[in-house]
Amino acid sequence: MSRTTSEGLKAVVTGGGSGIGLAAATALAERGMKVACLDLNPPGEPFIGIKADVTDDAGVRAAVAEAAERLGGIDVLVNNAGIGAQGTIEDNPDSEWHKVFDVNVLGMVRVARAALPYLRRSEHASIVNTCSIAATAGLPQRALYSATKGAVLSLTLAMAADHIREGIRVNCVNPGTADTPWVARLLDAAGDPEAERAALNARQPMGRLVTAEEVASAIAYLAGPEAGATTGTTLAVDGGMQGLRLRPAN
Ligand SMILES: NC(=O)c1ccc[n+]([C@@H]2O[C@H](COP(=O)([O-])OP(=O)(O)OC[C@H]3O[C@@H](n4cnc5c(N)ncnc54)[C@H](O)[C@@H]3O)[C@@H](O)[C@H]2O)c1
Repeated sequence: MSRTTSEGLKAVVTGGGSGIGLAAATALAERGMKVACLDLNPPGEPFIGIKADVTDDAGVRAAVAEAAERLGGIDVLVNNAGIGAQGTIEDNPDSEWHKVFDVNVLGMVRVARAALPYLRRSEHASIVNTCSIAATAGLPQRALYSATKGAVLSLTLAMAADHIREGIRVNCVNPGTADTPWVARLLDAAGDPEAERAALNARQPMGRLVTAEEVASAIAYLAGPEAGATTGTTLAVDGGMQGLRLRPAN
């Protein structure tokens, strides 16, 4: 009989100290999971906060082992830690390309690689990667960031194929612009933050930013047993940005 509740599952969330990751950790805990958050700035109670940098392979292995030890295993991995980059391909030096790929793509690889031995022992194993609308729509001034998220999308499909026979599901969420500390920092840096916010709102057919909690609910769904037949999918949480083409309002 397959499991029908998330109660008691053990989850690791990277980037769980802020924004979408913190909201995802909260959503998983609300569904009865025990949650460890790996972050440069990890949160405290009710989570198990573990300081980790996803670019450091030895540090990731140690942090994942510590999480498994303190949780009593790992059933769910939410690969969410990520950083941004702005500009066209002319704007970012090679060092920045290496850095952003190192966090956004290799970071997910390192954490998943370290977690796989534990996931294989789980009766309900699931990985959810935080991808982005930038993987599926061409956004201006986001060449490097979009390239990393395109890689995350392809990686999600490849991992889903590799691990399906081990009983490990792999999916991703594609948020549109979400109202998180990250976006607050972008707005603060803009010449006219109010105009910038209005432009971001207007870019989404719903006319508003996505909330971190809305993305977190999608992550919790994909992570949990209700999605037991779902693998290799992307779930857009983007206010209609990917799929819809509206006529102007007037
Ligand atoms: N906010 C958006 O509009 C949006 C849209 C689509 C996708 N995303 C994706 O959602 C994810 C979370 O973004 P957010 O908006 O919540 O950002 P955020 O900046 O609020 O949170 C990101 C967290 O990741 C952690 N982190 C960064 N680098 C790390 C590293 N090397 N090792 C460990 N932890 C690290 C940070 O400390 C932070 O706590 C990212 O993968 C981002 O690409 C965000």
